[in-house]
Amino acid sequence: MPYLKGQLIKLLTDFFENDYRRIQHAVDVLHYAENIMQKADEYDRDVVIAAALLHDVGIKPSEKELGYNNGKTQEQYGPPVVRELLTRIGFPPDKLQKVVDIVGNHHSPSRFDYPELAILKEADRIVNRQEEC
Ligand SMILES: [Fe+2]
Repeated sequence: MPYLKGQLIKLLTDFFENDYRRIQHAVDVLHYAENIMQKADEYDRDVVIAAALLHDVGIKPSEKELGYNNGKTQEQYGPPVVRELLTRIGFPPDKLQKVVDIVGNHHSPSRFDYPELAILKEADRIVNRQEEC
């Protein structure tokens, strides 16, 4: 897709508005995911980029509806938002389903044998570890 990263960054920033912490987290995760992709061999680049930038969108509806978020609620609230956002930019349906699966599984033991899920989890782990410091 042309300018996919640009389109996704716009979706991300429109969605999180001035929640700069979440925006920066997603951009940092994308940075590490891109590094990991250089060493990996089989993956769909568009899926990794979309998953990296959108993996935490479930946080916002979870906090709005429940007043909190955790790994479980992110996995619950994230997928419908991701589906809506990616449909809006015409993201290919087969790839879209993979991103939805990844977002719905990024905080629990992997149920999908996707290299893109492993890449996202590793990148998210690196960034989460850094943010703890
Ligand atoms: Fe994350």
